[in-house]
Parts: sequence; C-alpha cells; structure tokens
Amino acid sequence: MTRTQVVVVGSLNTDRVLSVASLPVRGETVPCLGEVVTQGGKGANQAAAAAALGVDTVFIGAVGDDPGGDAGVGELERVGVDVSLVQQVAAPTGAATVAVDRDGANFIIVEAGANAALDPRHVHQAVTRSAGPGSMILASLEIPLDAVAAAGQAARQVGAGFALNPAPARLLPDDLLASCGVLVPNEVELTQLRMPPERLFTLGVGAVVVTRGGEGAELLRPGHPPAHVPALRVAARDTTGAGDAFVAAFCAARTLGLDLDTACRFAAAAGSLSTTGAGARGHLPSRAEVERSMADHPVWNEPPSPGGWPAER
Ligand code: RIB
Repeated sequence: MTRTQVVVVGSLNTDRVLSVASLPVRGETVPCLGEVVTQGGKGANQAAAAAALGVDTVFIGAVGDDPGGDAGVGELERVGVDVSLVQQVAAPTGAATVAVDRDGANFIIVEAGANAALDPRHVHQAVTRSAGPGSMILASLEIPLDAVAAAGQAARQVGAGFALNPAPARLLPDDLLASCGVLVPNEVELTQLRMPPERLFTLGVGAVVVTRGGEGAELLRPGHPPAHVPALRVAARDTTGAGDAFVAAFCAARTLGLDLDTACRFAAAAGSLSTTGAGARGHLPSRAEVERSMADHPVWNEPPSPGGWPAER
C-alpha cells in the first residue's frame, strides 16, 4: 500500500527573475531594476506547493549534472518532496528568464535543457511504483509529450487520478486528452488548445478547471452549469507560479477527499495566497492558512463538505 498522495511529473528550472517597471512590448528595450536567481520549473513549483500543504509528494523529472540541478533537487528535498525518482541526464538543467513588473504581472522564456530528456519509460515505472488508488498524478507540458502520455497511462494502470496542466499550451492528441480526469488550463491556454470544453468532454475529460488570475476560476463539467470560483482579495506582489500553486492545491485537496467544487475553492485560495510573495515559490501556503482564509472569505463561509474537513494526517 502506497502512502504517496500527489505525484508530480514535470519540469525543474533555475529561474532568473528580472524586475522591471513595466513589461516590454514587442521591439521595446526596458531597464532591469533588480535580479534574483531562484528555484523554479512548473513541475518543481507544483511539487513544492503540494508538500507545503502537508501531503506526501513525489517529484519525477530530469536535471543535469550541474549546480542548477543540485540546487533545484536540494531545495525540493528540503521542503519534504521525495526526489528519489529524479533522473540525472546529459544536458544542462532547465532555465527560465522571468520578467516581473510593478503590478506582479510577468512573462517567462524557458530553455528546456534536461527537461526535454525526461524518459517516458522512466516516468511510467516511477509513477506505477509511487502511486495507487487515491493518489493524484499531476503533469504539465515543459517535458516531452511522450513522458506526459506515459504518466497518464500509468495513472490509469494503478487507478490514480490524472490532472493535466497544459502549460505552456500546445495542440494535444485526442488519446492524451482522453486520459485526463481533469484539465486545468488558464484562459489563454484553453484558447490555445483549440478545443472547446464540450469536445474535451466528448473525448472523456471529466472536468475542466479554467483559471482566470485575480478573477478566480471556472469549473466546467458535463451536465452541470459552469461554476464560478472567486479568488481571494490579496495584495498581489508576484503572480509567477500562481497557476502552479492552484493546480497543486487542487490535486492535494482531491487526495484529501474534497469534492470538485470544494477542491476548486481550496485551490483558488492557495493560488491567491501564493501571489503575496516574490518569485514562483515566494509564499507557498500551508493547509491551515488556506483553510483559515477560506473560513474568513465572505462567500465561502459555508462548511466545505458535509462532514467538514478531513482530519489532518
Ligand atoms: O509557472 C512558473 C514557472 O514557469 C517558472 O518557475 C519557470 O521556471 C517556468 O517553468
């Protein structure tokens, strides 16, 4: 019997974060007001966010044999993520340049590096070894599509849930989409998938959760009216990684037994709180902090589920 709750299959990057007064438009040159090098990568951010919520978390990804890889893996280990299934490959650790403006908005350019060498066979083996019924497998798209597909197949094989965060978005094959229990794009990514939710449902996707930044999120399910999930009102400092915190919290909530609606509210609260720190992992909220903010939220003061919150493990 496995104890792992959330298994993240995704990227690990070294982030070079540049502060700017406003993001440059096409052809514009802007001065850099400050620079910080920090740990990032959508997959690694998601794993760190899930671990901060107190759930057992495994990260499956690939890094180079270099200081960036050591620092990235070391940081995940420090926050309690199981990194024993991270591959070391003959390519430099992934890197991202992140520009953040005074309102906390960003743009990101990624060099895939080692992330592009993640082996699908390794992913399949690693997922089947670490997950079981009740686990959630979470994948994103800074790794090869074959590796994402292997994660989806392995999830099905072991009876675990499979959530795909299609970031950065690209066109996806029908069979990969069909393996997704839940798809969690932001509104731009949903457009870039070029597939309306109705078609996704026909393929077999169980639910689509569209994140809308400060506007919250929308839960779409076949046979149900769209449900709006409000964001918390917070003083956002940096929105980098907010989508990662959202989807990680959603998966963590599902492993804790929360229904889809409540998991979305939990995720929206975690995503909102994550924007109050600088950098992709500037503030990763604990489960207690998320629950407290949900209880304080004027729209969310009803009990989260018929039996209340499942007990802390
Ligand atoms: O989602 C934010 C992340 O996207 C950054 O940490 C960067 O590394 C890119 O993967």
